[in-house]
Amino acid sequence: MNYDLIDICEKLEKDGYCLIDKFWDKNLDLEIENFFNNNIRPLEKKTKIDEYGNRCFSIADNEIQNNPFDKIKKSKEFIDLYKKILAYNNIETNNDLDIHNVISYQKNEKNLNKTISSKLHFDAFYLTIIITIKKSNNDLSGSTGSLILYPNLRKKSKSSINNYLFKFIFQNLIARWVLNFSFFKKKLRATTISVGNNKVILFYGYRSLHGNEALKNSNLKVNAIFHVFNPHKHSKLDSFIFNRNKKIRNNKLNN
Ligand SMILES: [Fe+2]
Repeated sequence: MNYDLIDICEKLEKDGYCLIDKFWDKNLDLEIENFFNNNIRPLEKKTKIDEYGNRCFSIADNEIQNNPFDKIKKSKEFIDLYKKILAYNNIETNNDLDIHNVISYQKNEKNLNKTISSKLHFDAFYLTIIITIKKSNNDLSGSTGSLILYPNLRKKSKSSINNYLFKFIFQNLIARWVLNFSFFKKKLRATTISVGNNKVILFYGYRSLHGNEALKNSNLKVNAIFHVFNPHKHSKLDSFIFNRNKKIRNNKLNN
């Protein structure tokens, strides 16, 4: 990989995100394509339509077999990438480092009068790396589930409690409504990013408030998301929420 890792780190700090070219070969691309057709797409028929008019589900880590994204997770390029970024943030990496891989599927079924397809939130994990598996070509603005990003609003919290207090302040109905005013969008340098099929996006999911624009016009969006390093991994509250999310994920596919 010919990336300038320092350049990536600087872009992440300055712009809050960075787009890079994919770093795996054509064989793995083919494996991903087969995996999508044989293991992911068939699960759609088990799902219900959500409040945004989309069929959606996600599946994580070992919840699915033959996941080709395991190969990406173990690749030298990927490891070099996150190690460098975490080191730039003075975060030590060891064998205990947690990487949570989620495959997320969203297919628009009903055109509703919605402007978003997921609410603004902070991730539990510090670094977020998203690989596009499938994306419709219909790129009409506001209809493809583009990423909405309020970059680097916070630093790493000292404790899990502080982390949730911060989340509590921003992740509620009133805050989300206020943040949608153009004054605050401008003030907080909010941006909307459409990620192309052959690109990988990196951003600080823990530090940046983010969500997604609506998915409309039968558009499809399938991503492999890597969440890297949970600063509050050992807190009881975090384990509770992690397990709760797992149940929500599984319920979507088993009902
Ligand atoms: Fe997120």
